[in-house]
Amino acid sequence: MKRVRIALLGCGTVGSGLVELLARERRRILARHDVHLVIERILVRDVAKARRYVDRRLLTTSAVEAIDRECDVVVELVGGVHAAGAYVRRAIAQRRDVVTANKALLAACGAELFADARAAGVSIGFDASVCGGVPLINVLQRGLAGDSVESVRGIVNGTCNFILTRMEDGMTFVDALRIAQERGFAEAEPEFDVDGWDAAQKMRIVAAVAFDRPVVEEHVSGIRNVTPEWIGRARLGGNVIRLVASAKLTPFGVAIRVEPRELDANDPLACVREENNAVVIRSRAVGELTLTGKGAGAMPTAAAVLADVIAIGTATAAVRAQEAIA
Ligand SMILES: NC(=O)c1ccc[n+]([C@@H]2O[C@H](COP(=O)([O-])OP(=O)(O)OC[C@H]3O[C@@H](n4cnc5c(N)ncnc54)[C@H](OP(=O)(O)O)[C@@H]3O)[C@@H](O)[C@H]2O)c1
Repeated sequence: MKRVRIALLGCGTVGSGLVELLARERRRILARHDVHLVIERILVRDVAKARRYVDRRLLTTSAVEAIDRECDVVVELVGGVHAAGAYVRRAIAQRRDVVTANKALLAACGAELFADARAAGVSIGFDASVCGGVPLINVLQRGLAGDSVESVRGIVNGTCNFILTRMEDGMTFVDALRIAQERGFAEAEPEFDVDGWDAAQKMRIVAAVAFDRPVVEEHVSGIRNVTPEWIGRARLGGNVIRLVASAKLTPFGVAIRVEPRELDANDPLACVREENNAVVIRSRAVGELTLTGKGAGAMPTAAAVLADVIAIGTATAAVRAQEAIA
């Protein structure tokens, strides 16, 4: 049995989901993967805040204490770029494996962090950073490791999909956005989502994982120009409007597009409603593969984080076993 000690940085929506999920799944993970996962320290800003399922003795406001204390994996769920970046750099410098759900951090300095991690001989798991509970990154990195990916296209922004499906039901853009904000999955400043930039950032990460080629073309337009009339006309033909993000290999490199598209009812993306995500991967040997599910939320995102922690734990256990045999 391998004991894997976790320093958890951040205990908000996803971090507290991780604490709860780990409490629920710990015994099954031990039985199936032979890995015993233990949270050693939890970094927060406010130790006095009420937190369900959390052992308050583990809380600290000192990142140095959380990261430098003996641990095997640093799980970064703080969010943002500045502090989170400093924590991840420190974790790598201390030769800790890292798991993060932080798309913004990877977009801002992913290349530098991955180079540092390679040099330090540690890994960075980031499945949760794109499409939350949909294991897209893991499928591209592991499931399709033996195949050549040709294109990835999908609905990767839950806020836009929620707004478009509500508009299909007759609601205005403004009312649909307000409900998404009330339910907590649209930001108070929604421009990044509704103008397509969140989807584009996700596709840049997807492109880096799926293809060994640079991005040579990027077109981004959001859903502000989707009118009730367009939705109504599409509906007459049995079609729907969705914000589709795609990354595709061209002879020159990777082309990324994010734009509202009219989809035929038979398209696997057409039946995806509300804040759900879906991705269609086309690869040479497998053909078309569709993944659908929750692209955000405490438990789905925590499940993706936990899967990365288990993968790191089992890989480290295998290396240690080989070293012991040698
Ligand atoms: N929420 C989702 O559904 C979702 C889905 C996919 C990916 N993600 C990504 O997951 C990450 C976490 O998101 P979240 O929604 O869980 O965020 P959140 O609810 O805002 O939680 C952030 C946590 O980090 C702590 N924190 C913030 N700044 C800190 C700092 N400078 N030093 C120490 N601790 C700090 C906060 O402490 P306090 O609790 O004391 O305030 C809180 O516990 C983000 O990168 C986000 O993009 C989230």
